[in-house]
Amino acid sequence: MRTELRSILINPYTGNRPDLRDGALVDPETRERFPVIGGIPIMLREQEVEGLNRLYQRRYDSLSPFYDFFMTTVARLLRADAVFGEITEAMDVRSGDRVLETSVGTGRQIKSIIDHGMAADQFVGLDISMGMLRKCQRNMRNWRHPLDLVQGNAEFLPFADDTFDVVLHIGGINFFNDKERAILEMVRVARPGARLYIGDETEKQLQEQPSLINRFYQKPDAGTYASPVDLVPDTMEKIDNRELWDGKMYLISFQKPA
Ligand SMILES: C[S@@+](CC[C@H](N)C(=O)[O-])C[C@H]1O[C@@H](n2cnc3c(N)ncnc32)[C@H](O)[C@@H]1O
Repeated sequence: MRTELRSILINPYTGNRPDLRDGALVDPETRERFPVIGGIPIMLREQEVEGLNRLYQRRYDSLSPFYDFFMTTVARLLRADAVFGEITEAMDVRSGDRVLETSVGTGRQIKSIIDHGMAADQFVGLDISMGMLRKCQRNMRNWRHPLDLVQGNAEFLPFADDTFDVVLHIGGINFFNDKERAILEMVRVARPGARLYIGDETEKQLQEQPSLINRFYQKPDAGTYASPVDLVPDTMEKIDNRELWDGKMYLISFQKPA
């Protein structure tokens, strides 16, 4: 684990900054231990992952060996491979930025940002699925780009307040237990003046994609595929809610007041 990552981590349940002791991060007050395995700190209480978060953690763990194959072959047939570029072009990432993606998956959105020549200073990726993170770690080695990875729940981010210049989330929030909490956490870890982006699929994509893919997902409630723009705090600036990918994806962008 790089010092650049360790210096921004907190215990997500107490807010304390952990010390590194015998290969684990330890809360100095409560002594709670967060192991670091293969360079990836595990910053969540596994026994407290429940509901939809638990369901999708397991499903993505099982899917992780095949996820990239699926995205590069089946998704090409569905013309889904262009979507990462469309999202990236809607983003503002600058040199010197510290960027966080919550639900980084296998790193495909970060790769698109790098391929677009947006050279941030540090990329950090968090995901609840260790399978996806391991795949992401291998991808980044092949792509020869450093990315600091953390296992965690997007609803309890293990990062200090006011840390990142850009905070993004693509493709998981529709099925989170608590969308509002995840958005408030993104805001908390964003620096004053930071740019934030939240995107996921719309109802149109649900209707158009093959039913085989829909079987991967839990039967949606009314509102599952609606943009959660109303959950963005009113205190944020430049709130924009647009549709990309021919209306099959929403992308919310906003800025934390400087
Ligand atoms: C469709 S993938 C998107 C991955 C990546 N952002 C991309 O665009 O390719 C959804 C990801 O959300 C992650 N995820 C689901 N629930 C989560 C949660 N509560 N906290 C963090 N990640 C979560 C899954 O493990 C999975 O990697």
